[in-house]
Amino acid sequence: MTKLLEAAGLHKVYSSGEAKTHALRGVDYTFCDNRFYAVIGKSGSGKSTLLHLISGMETPTEGSVLYRSQNIGNMKDAELSKLKRQKFGFVFQAYNLLPELCVLENIMLPADLDKQKADKTYVKEILQTLGIQDKIRKYPSQLSGGEQQRVAIARALINKPEIIFADEPTGNLDQQNGNAVIDLLVKLHRQFRQTIILVTHDNDIAACADEIIYIQDGLIIPR
Ligand SMILES: Nc1ncnc2c1ncn2[C@@H]1O[C@H](COP(=O)(O)OP(=O)(O)OP(=O)(O)O)[C@@H](O)[C@H]1O
Ligand SMILES: [Mg+2]
Repeated sequence: MTKLLEAAGLHKVYSSGEAKTHALRGVDYTFCDNRFYAVIGKSGSGKSTLLHLISGMETPTEGSVLYRSQNIGNMKDAELSKLKRQKFGFVFQAYNLLPELCVLENIMLPADLDKQKADKTYVKEILQTLGIQDKIRKYPSQLSGGEQQRVAIARALINKPEIIFADEPTGNLDQQNGNAVIDLLVKLHRQFRQTIILVTHDNDIAACADEIIYIQDGLIIPR
């Protein structure tokens, strides 16, 4: 398996005033190409913190994150931003769609930012797989939660990222819509072969993954 992303001795301490929270306490893990990872653990165990560190959204207090053997902590801001835009896709619990843009504009935004011409066949394929091809002229406020989440997934995929980081993407959806979104992620993973790192509270969802990462008190626990 080809190494894609490595976490090495990751610590994260959040301080607010006198209070310090040791959110991660020395996490080592290697993520490989074309794999589907589920991250599980209790509330407050450090799942989101891990995702934020390995995706370059936050910096570790100690330790390093390597993308294809390159330390992202040594990258210049512009280089890291480009890596995030071009190789990483993000899906969160809040959909973070821009209300003043229609569905198609929202989806195309990451590609537009890089002045890249999106591959039209690929865009069509994504829209079809996600079942939102007839919604592209609507605005986020005109869509259901499940539809908005599918738009957010389409946006995350538009640049053909190598890794999708998904932090409880079904947290705001009912069971049925939630399952539909996960089925889609799994289907997309099979179809387009990206690595997926998915934080979830749902053991059934985690069971679909190639590897389950169990976090307890800021550490990965072998199971
Ligand atoms: N920005 C922050 N400032 C201070 N403390 C933080 C911050 N972000 C997270 N924490 C703390 O770090 C610990 C880990 O938080 P994290 O968000 O990673 O947990 P989580 O496993 O994602 O939980 P949940 O399942 O509830 O989303 C918690 O104790 C949390 O309160
Ligand atoms: Mg979280």
